[in-house]
Amino acid sequence: MQIVILATADHVADYGAQLFISQLTNNPNSVLGLATGSTPLALYQRLINAYQQQRLTFARAKTFNLDEYLGLAGDHPQSYRYFMQQHLFDHIDILPANTAVPCGAAIDPVAACLEYEQQITAAGGIDLQLLGLGRNGHIGFNEPSSGLRSRTRIKTLTPATITDNARFFQAGEYQPHLSLTMGIGTILDARKVLLLATGANKANAVKAMIEGPLTAACPASALQLHQHAIVVLDEAAAATLA
Ligand code: F6R
Repeated sequence: MQIVILATADHVADYGAQLFISQLTNNPNSVLGLATGSTPLALYQRLINAYQQQRLTFARAKTFNLDEYLGLAGDHPQSYRYFMQQHLFDHIDILPANTAVPCGAAIDPVAACLEYEQQITAAGGIDLQLLGLGRNGHIGFNEPSSGLRSRTRIKTLTPATITDNARFFQAGEYQPHLSLTMGIGTILDARKVLLLATGANKANAVKAMIEGPLTAACPASALQLHQHAIVVLDEAAAATLA
């Protein structure tokens, strides 16, 4: 695991965006693994800027998102498909057919998970996977106790994650407690992994991920096993590292 500590969240976004730009410049056919949440927003804005300045094209790229709420269709404003359209896909030249997000409205979600794995394999595997970090150490929606070799599947969200993500939902609005998520094994299969974490509220999870034991209690600790994992932190997120 390579650890990069930068002064601010803006520097983290610059660094992460540059890795994506280099990836796409070196291989325009890249298969990208993407994340939602607050952390990647600034990185996505930088990719949009680079596209608008004609420094970057996604015309031949493919993307696979980590996860989706089970029970939300892609046109639901809280769905991760909707998030991706709003914050990236609608602003770049990626072909809609080349963007994949697990289908939260699937009639047979178990089959949809298997199919998602098959789609990733058929695309040749993920070249660069972007990750955020949950305060409880989750990656994707692989909550603590997730199997370290798990594949895309249905996963129950912990109360902590439901509370953390309640900020995206209106008061009284239905908030799903189940998700479809790539597994930890799926994530570890990516050729390169880039995890971004910013802010003091991630510091404990960062410490467990990097300095703690390899354990399902901190799913992100599985990245210790990856040959090409880069963890980019701001000083606040890195504050408790030895
Ligand atoms: C999102 C995802 C989650 C988030 C994590 C951090 O697709 O898979 O693991 O990356 O919950 O979320 P933020 O960035 O909002 O702190």
